[in-house]
Amino acid sequence: MNIHPEFHRFLNRHDKEALLNQKGLAIWMCGLSGSGKSTIANAAERVLHQQGRFTIILDGDNLRTGLNANLGFSDEDRLENIRRIAEFTKVLVQNGVIVFISAITPRGVLRDLARGIIGEENLFEIYIKASYEACEKRDVKGLYAKAARGEIDHFTGKDGSFEPPLNPDLTLDTEILTIEDSAIELVESIIPRFSSM
Ligand code: ADX
Repeated sequence: MNIHPEFHRFLNRHDKEALLNQKGLAIWMCGLSGSGKSTIANAAERVLHQQGRFTIILDGDNLRTGLNANLGFSDEDRLENIRRIAEFTKVLVQNGVIVFISAITPRGVLRDLARGIIGEENLFEIYIKASYEACEKRDVKGLYAKAARGEIDHFTGKDGSFEPPLNPDLTLDTEILTIEDSAIELVESIIPRFSSM
């Protein structure tokens, strides 16, 4: 019997997942600004937290004040923004964390990049669906009014393209569903992905 602790062996993903009693998973939420990504992520996170799950939210808006503060909204900068978020996510997932990513991720090429970094088997892609007009009506941050006045370059859905995902794991239409219903549907659909150890 080996009575000596294995100090030489690096802890691996399975060790971390066993401690947390969950599997690492990235829940990538894309959609227009104001579609409800962050709101639903926060609501779903609260449900999981109450169920004893360890979660982290990576929010595009917040990361752009720190890690991604040097990036704007050109195609090139959005690519770098998503690349960094995906690399960050990868580290967390490899350590057993359930990660919510709330970022517009407006194009297929960006979502493919994220998938390639994180790994298909670790990713659950959700389209938070709401039309430009609906988001413009909500205009929580006043950005749609600014965009209408021509004060924002490359605004997603206006002069910056948004390609809806072709084959998301889940679509939540926030013009129909309440926040609570969206959060519950989200949580129910990801449970099998993180709970079977
Ligand atoms: S992404 O396209 O690179 O995925 P991200 O989610 O990080 O975008 O940031 C989007 C947020 O930045 C929006 O929710 C909004 O608050 C703000 N924003 C500022 N300028 C723009 C713009 N031109 N287009 C879209 N969002 C913008």
